[in-house]
Amino acid sequence: MKKRFYVVLVLLMTFVFLLVACMHRGMGPHMAPVESAASQGGLLYDKWWAVSGAVEPETDHPLWALQDTNTRSGSTTWRCKECHGWDYKGKDGAYGEGSHYTGFPGVYDASQTQTEAQLLNVLTGSTDPRHDFSPVLSEAALQDLVDFLKEYIIDDTKYINYDTREAIAANVVSGKALYSQTCRGCHGSDGKRINFGSGEEPEYVGTLASGNPWETLHKIRFGNPGTSMPSAIAGGWSIQNMIDVLGYAQTLPE
Ligand code: HEC
Ligand code: HEC
Repeated sequence: MKKRFYVVLVLLMTFVFLLVACMHRGMGPHMAPVESAASQGGLLYDKWWAVSGAVEPETDHPLWALQDTNTRSGSTTWRCKECHGWDYKGKDGAYGEGSHYTGFPGVYDASQTQTEAQLLNVLTGSTDPRHDFSPVLSEAALQDLVDFLKEYIIDDTKYINYDTREAIAANVVSGKALYSQTCRGCHGSDGKRINFGSGEEPEYVGTLASGNPWETLHKIRFGNPGTSMPSAIAGGWSIQNMIDVLGYAQTLPE
C-alpha cells in the first residue's frame, strides 16, 4: 500500500512540474501569447518567412505591378525592406535611386504619426486590400511588426552620412573592441570568414558595411533572419555601440 502511495505521489508531482514548466514557457492551452524577443519585428521586416515558419512566396507581391523600375521578382518582392528600404524611408531614402528604386513610400513617417491600431490596419489591408499580410502572418507576428514600427525604428540620417555612406561620429576604438568580443568569433578578425556573396563576387562584413551601411546597421541591431547571428538590441547595446561597430566594420577589407 505504502509503495503504491509513493508511486502515485511521484507521478502527481511530475505532472504538476510539467504543467508549471509548460505554463512558464507559455505553452499552456489558455495562455496569453508570450512576449516576443525585441528583435523579432526587425527580423520579420527583413525576411518574414525566414523567422515565422510561413511558406516562402513564389509569385510577385500584388503591389509589385504598380512599378517597373525594380526588376526583381518572386519572394524578394514580399520583403518589407524591398519596398520600404533598410532605412525605412522608401523612395525618400537610400532606395530613392539605384536598382531597388520602386517609388514606394517609407514607413518612418507613418511609424511616428500613426497609432498601433492604424498601423495594424495598414498591415491587414484595411487601407489597401493588396497590403493585407494577415493570410501569411500570424496575429503575434503582425503585432511584432507593429512593435518594431513603434519602438525600434530609428532615423538613419542621424547616424549615416548619405553622401559618403560613412557612420557619423563612430568611435572605431570602441567599435574594434566590441567587434572583437561579439563578431570576430563568426566573421573573423578581418570580417572575411563568411562570404555572403559568391566566389566571383565575394561580399564580406567590410564590403557590406561600406557599400550598404543601412542594411548593415539593421542586421547589427536585429540579427540576420534564420541564422545564429545575435541581435545587438536583444544584447542591450546602446545605439552608439552599434554605430561604433558599424564604423569599425567600414575599416575592414572589402
Ligand atoms: C510590394 C511592396 C510592399 C511590401 C512588400 C510591403 N509594403 Fe508596405 N506599403 C506599400 C505601398 C505601395 C504602400 C502605400 C499605399 C498602400 O498601402 O498601398 C505601403 C504602405 C505601408 C505603410 C503605411 C505608410 C504610410 O505612410 O501610411 C506601412 C506602415 C507599411 N506599408 C508597412 C509594411 C510592412 C511592415 C511590410 C512587411 C510586412 C510591408 N509594408 C510590405 C508597399 C509594400
Ligand atoms: C553566431 C555567429 C555570428 C555572430 C556572433 C555575428 N554574425 Fe553576422 N552573420 C552570421 C551569419 C551566419 C550570417 C549569414 C551569412 C550568409 O548570409 O551567408 C551573418 C551575416 C552578417 C552580415 C551580412 C548579412 C547579409 O545578408 O548580407 C553582416 C553585415 C554581419 N553578419 C555583421 C555582423 C556583425 C557586425 C556582428 C557583430 C555585431 C556579427 N555579424 C555577429 C553569423 C554571425
